[in-house]
Amino acid sequence: MTTHLVGGISSAGRALPPLDGKPFITRRSNGAYVWDDAQRRYIDTALGFGATVIGHAHPLVVEAVTAALRNGPMPAFAHDGEEEAARLLTSATRHLSRAIFTNTGSEAVHLACRIARVATGRSIIAKMAAGYDGWYDDVTLGQAGSGDAAMLANARPSRERTTLLRFNDFDDVDQLFAENGDIAAVILEPMLANAGCVPAAPGYLAHVEATARRHGALVILDEVLMGFRTGLGLTGHGIGLEADLATVGKAIGSGIAVAAVVGRPELMALAEEGAVNRAGTYSGNPVAAAAVTATFQVLKNLDYPALMARGERLRHGIRAAFAKNGTTVTTSGEGSVFTIWFGDRPPSNYAETLGMANAAMTLKLHETLRRHGLLIMPFAFGRLYLSDAHTDEVIDAMIDIFKDAAREMAA
Ligand SMILES: Cc1ncc(COP(=O)(O)O)c(C=O)c1O
Repeated sequence: MTTHLVGGISSAGRALPPLDGKPFITRRSNGAYVWDDAQRRYIDTALGFGATVIGHAHPLVVEAVTAALRNGPMPAFAHDGEEEAARLLTSATRHLSRAIFTNTGSEAVHLACRIARVATGRSIIAKMAAGYDGWYDDVTLGQAGSGDAAMLANARPSRERTTLLRFNDFDDVDQLFAENGDIAAVILEPMLANAGCVPAAPGYLAHVEATARRHGALVILDEVLMGFRTGLGLTGHGIGLEADLATVGKAIGSGIAVAAVVGRPELMALAEEGAVNRAGTYSGNPVAAAAVTATFQVLKNLDYPALMARGERLRHGIRAAFAKNGTTVTTSGEGSVFTIWFGDRPPSNYAETLGMANAAMTLKLHETLRRHGLLIMPFAFGRLYLSDAHTDEVIDAMIDIFKDAAREMAA
């Protein structure tokens, strides 16, 4: 029982439920594993909420970050690590060739929205209902689980500077722009990841992009979660989406707090000229820059197809384990980030996720796997992340644990 720290952890979404009356307290993490305060080892699929695609405490990142710390973590003035980190990052983001570092994905989204507002002279950001683009006031509208996210009876929940779009609803995009001439940008993820990895319908993202452009609005690709997770670059680029600005975080820093906005040079020039306010005591600090640079040294040699294939093998193993015990389970998402559903086909929109979400079964699955030494998120929209440290042997061990769990849950 913690008495000084609110709720036992500083971010509500990262809390695990107690098991047998005991809270889960992490002692350390390395590679594919975390250890609890009793030194018990678990295979981890939360990976710092997706913060690493190369495994916890990768030695090259630890070494680079330690050197940066020893060298002085916060000099205030420009330092030589930041340009190199920006060069490496933007070498993988195509025409989004200029970068500004921030500390968190939420800050990056905030800055990208500000750039879009200044560039267009408009005030409203349209975001996906049930999408998660960070926890700053403007974009908390319509988070998964809220009444607004459901957008019932065709109502369009809005705030002064934010409005909602129904993900995968083609007509809703046209309707939004017909209703509102003040949209500065649409912000979207390549899939609705935080609502349980709902994939974009074929042609949907291209439709959003084309409609936004026709109406003079910008497109912000929020890749804080997906960026550098499915390949060396933006997942949206892989499926043909050409955004004006993108936000990245998590995987680019391998567990060190760093994120960034990347964008078209003419938009980013607004920040350079001072038309867009940007700041941050810690933005682009040497430790963060060192983490990015070291991460990219590893990422450029990462065998992404093999990582994705291991993820697909695990997903197949999970489905087979439950099927053998008479429970129908399916998964949605990508090889290195996916969600498990108790149902026979993956949801294709948020309304379907609400129908399929089974909080009690997901919690039971979490508890059963945890007893067997495997950690997954305890809520229905939770995601399983995999990293390069999740080798074939680790995947085999995970499949064996799922087999045991499926048998026990059926009994
Ligand atoms: C798509 C997306 N955008 C933004 C954020 C916010 O990033 P951070 O938690 O670093 O503020 C997240 C975090 O999960 C995210 O998944």
